Amino acid sequence: MSDDGIHLNLFTMNAVEHVSVGSWRYPGDQSTRYTDTDYWTEVARTAERGGFDGVFFADVRGIYDVFDDSRDPAIEKAVQTPSNDPAYVVPAMAEVTDDLGFAITKSTSYNHPYQLAREFSTLDHVTDGRVAWNVVTSYLESAAANLGLEGMIEHDERYDRADEFMEVVYRLWEDSWEDDAVVADRESDVYTDPEKVHGIDFDGDYFRVPGPHGCEPSPQRSPVIYQAGSSDRGREFAAKHAEAVFVSQPNERAVMDYIEDLEARAESYGRDPDSLKFFPGIVPIVGETAEIAEAKHESYKEGIDVEGVLTLLSGFVDMDLSELDPDQTVEHIETQAMQGVVNAFTKNDDREWTVREMAQYAGLGTTSPVVVGTPEQVADEIERWYTEVGVDGFNVKEVVRPDGLRDFVDLVVPELRERGLMRETAGATLRGTLTGSDRLPADHPARR
Ligand SMILES: Cc1cc2nc3c(=O)[nH]c(=O)nc-3n(C[C@H](O)[C@H](O)[C@H](O)COP(=O)(O)O)c2cc1C
Repeated sequence: MSDDGIHLNLFTMNAVEHVSVGSWRYPGDQSTRYTDTDYWTEVARTAERGGFDGVFFADVRGIYDVFDDSRDPAIEKAVQTPSNDPAYVVPAMAEVTDDLGFAITKSTSYNHPYQLAREFSTLDHVTDGRVAWNVVTSYLESAAANLGLEGMIEHDERYDRADEFMEVVYRLWEDSWEDDAVVADRESDVYTDPEKVHGIDFDGDYFRVPGPHGCEPSPQRSPVIYQAGSSDRGREFAAKHAEAVFVSQPNERAVMDYIEDLEARAESYGRDPDSLKFFPGIVPIVGETAEIAEAKHESYKEGIDVEGVLTLLSGFVDMDLSELDPDQTVEHIETQAMQGVVNAFTKNDDREWTVREMAQYAGLGTTSPVVVGTPEQVADEIERWYTEVGVDGFNVKEVVRPDGLRDFVDLVVPELRERGLMRETAGATLRGTLTGSDRLPADHPARR
């Protein structure tokens, strides 16, 4: 638990539909404006007004074509398709804000570390040190096919490749340019001192990168590292690299177990376990009165598009859920896609779920708890998770966009501020806001 108060992110996607499939049809929903820069600058201003650390953008390669062995349901229902690259709206959002950070999801399976290092250094310069990278390994076969690969790399090997990917980017960001390499001395005609720029001579199993890095050091050097893997191999990766971990577990017990497990694993990598910050998702549905909140919840539930949700989940677990009887209990599935999502409904929860119940639950924000009530009731629940479960903050998921964010900022944040629970001071960089230091700590693998 952070002792400087609760940290908040908005969890969103540069797309019509993210994790509440069917919600674009609700009255007042504006997610079809995702192609307008105005939509994103408005979101940025609202999130900053609410004291959020950042806007966290999910992103995905490929199409959800597993359900019914067809891409049509995903296209018809806008299941994370169409989507635009989040990185390009960030400069506009940074321009209208001072402290807000931006986490961008990029895959280690479908990028090259030399190229990705340059993209994030550029973003870190453009935002004055307000960028984070959500490191993912991806899960859709259709992405591999579109990138000319024979097939998706197997689950655990994707993480092996990701480990090596991290080694390369860390060396480019942290070791290649010394702090005082840039002298910009007009008289001696030296912009950069060549003695202070180093190659990295990396030669591994997956990548060969001589370096040096092509960008001069940015305010944070390495972006803040986010991670959300929850399989055994994914946890190992998160424990080694992550500064902020997106927890996706179905109940408090499972979240506490997850935190304890990750902290122990981080210690085994020589890291201070307190340097990892834990963010569960939360879907707040708030109203001025309990009746208003409950009425909203009911109307949102009615709007869930069950087929659309199953299209999303089929992609998550790489299994065609159209083949199952909706009233059949979900058994554990061995998957090469997102093992964490399967575990959330099978191993980590005592309850038995039918396919239909799982779709209805996942229809509002997938695996995160839905908290319905007045600002005081929602704040009570947030306070309880912060003080009793020991999380550092929350990734706030909207059902209706951007009303979900606006309601939270206008109704719940004042209540949290009143209780002295919100993180109040921002650092010079996103990492400064999150951890108190602009640079990665000395015990992080990037610095050792
Ligand atoms: C809450 C949550 C959010 C995620 N967001 C993304 C995303 O935006 N894009 C993506 O490709 N993968 C995303 N993932 C996938 C993971 O980061 C990871 O690559 C995947 O879950 C496989 O790892 P696992 O089996 O260890 O869970 C997300 C996973 C979770 C649990």
